[in-house]
Amino acid sequence: MNNPKLLWTLILLLLLALAGLVYKFFTGSVAPSEDGRTAVILDKAERDLVLGEMRQFLVSVQAVSQAITAGDRDSIAAEATRAGMAAEADTPAVLLAKIPLAMKQLGFGTRGKFDEIAAAAKSGEDMKQLRQRLDSLLGNCIACHAAFRLPEPRE
Ligand code: HEC
Repeated sequence: MNNPKLLWTLILLLLLALAGLVYKFFTGSVAPSEDGRTAVILDKAERDLVLGEMRQFLVSVQAVSQAITAGDRDSIAAEATRAGMAAEADTPAVLLAKIPLAMKQLGFGTRGKFDEIAAAAKSGEDMKQLRQRLDSLLGNCIACHAAFRLPEPRE
């Protein structure tokens, strides 16, 4: 290609596209919400996927809590690992791009805390400390629900 003008135009267009992607990574697909939270705008299938993960989160918290009460280290590690970062492997990139950075951080942070509970259970940490970790993890659930909502898409 020996047309410098065309080359510069192409470079400019690519830079603009890149800037758009970076912007999207930070802001996600959001709108203000009347209840003061930030509404994250997903399509129906994406919203169903996230809400399904949420219901699974609740199941995991209950299972880990019960295993701590029972003092069952293996079960704590297994249940916490199931809700850890590995569960994120199949999350579509398009969905991640729509989620604002602060929400991604809280979401991955929660997965990370589950993995830390699994590691701590395996390393022999006592049950009271493990419960304190679960208490702190629940702070993530509360913080995210206070800041974000997922409005139902209009049909
Ligand atoms: C990264 C943000 C985030 C984190 C962390 C998070 N949630 Fe959620 N959760 C949401 C959003 C957003 C909704 C939709 C709320 C709304 O639209 O009002 C939701 C909804 C839910 C629902 C309702 C599901 C349904 O079918 O309607 C449950 C249950 C739930 N979360 C449990 C949890 C539990 C338990 C945790 C912690 C282990 C947790 N969530 C952590 C963002 C989060």
